[in-house]
Amino acid sequence: MAEKSEWDLQTEQIQERMDRIGRKILIMSGKGGVGKTTMTVNMANALVDMGCTVGILDTDITGPNVAKMLGCEDGMLGSPDGKTLYPHEPRKGLKVVSMSFALSDPDAPVIWRGSLKNTAIRQFLADVEWGDLDYLLIDSPPGTGDEQLTVCQSILSLTGTIIVTTPQSVAVLDARRSVGFSRKVGAAIIGVIENMSGLKCPHCGQEIPVFGIGGGEAMCADMHVPFLGRVPMEIDLREAEDKGVDFMAGGASHPSREAIMEICRKINFGTACSTGRDTSFLGTPQCSPSACASCTSNCPSRNK
Ligand SMILES: Nc1ncnc2c1ncn2[C@@H]1O[C@H](COP(=O)(O)OP(=O)(O)OP(=O)(O)O)[C@@H](O)[C@H]1O
Ligand SMILES: [Mg+2]
Repeated sequence: MAEKSEWDLQTEQIQERMDRIGRKILIMSGKGGVGKTTMTVNMANALVDMGCTVGILDTDITGPNVAKMLGCEDGMLGSPDGKTLYPHEPRKGLKVVSMSFALSDPDAPVIWRGSLKNTAIRQFLADVEWGDLDYLLIDSPPGTGDEQLTVCQSILSLTGTIIVTTPQSVAVLDARRSVGFSRKVGAAIIGVIENMSGLKCPHCGQEIPVFGIGGGEAMCADMHVPFLGRVPMEIDLREAEDKGVDFMAGGASHPSREAIMEICRKINFGTACSTGRDTSFLGTPQCSPSACASCTSNCPSRNK
């Protein structure tokens, strides 16, 4: 029998690591700056608050923002034996791996071609001791290129993609390409988040449709993909990101926090069911009726 190549061995190593993780979700968008990293870090914190163990893999190699938004820029990846990497743990239940932990100067640019980025992402999947996790949320740069392809082709048990868009038609146009990408590579689409969906005027309380409203939801109806929810624009959310504080932990009520919580409840239960792929539910099964209506999986709560 022919000897296994280094590539094959690494692929096996990735599958072993990924088999210990419940749900592996790629967060993607066609357009840049629509809120992928914001959604990733806040969903991660919300899922940890719900009692899940969560990993974040930042595959934005040249523009890593996850650590900044989590307020853990000083984090480091441990490697006692020089081979296995240990993620940074900014709080109990959350493990983070990002290229930014390997940079001594935050202003230094990473100028890498696609092949080098692919190598780094595969190493982050194969060599990191992720351990047993309920979720791995994989943040990505905009587009449907090297990083997304490497994730989808390297994680054979990928649960699916979450596509983030704003309601603006130019963002929706690009989001449609993310839907097309997911279908082409055979990744289940868990759903679409419409972020920056309206801004409540802090003076008069009226809703200002900065990027329009409803564009992401309309796309979902048109392309027959699940809609996860609208997250409005909020100054407090933006400020929390800039300061690196946990927006989900604050006391005052915020529509965007409520929206992210609701999205996480759907992800944690119903929506994975509607993909028909992942029926290993965490906690009590609790599908939403709309998800169950079109679901073909054997989810225990189906037709209840
Ligand atoms: N709902 C929101 N309300 C207010 N500000 C937001 C909201 N969502 C995101 N932002 C802000 O918008 C900016 C862009 O968000 P973010 O960096 O998460 O986008 P991204 O899609 O990850 O960008 P990139 O494509 O560069 O990776 C950030 O400054 C973030 O704080
Ligand atoms: Mg980002």
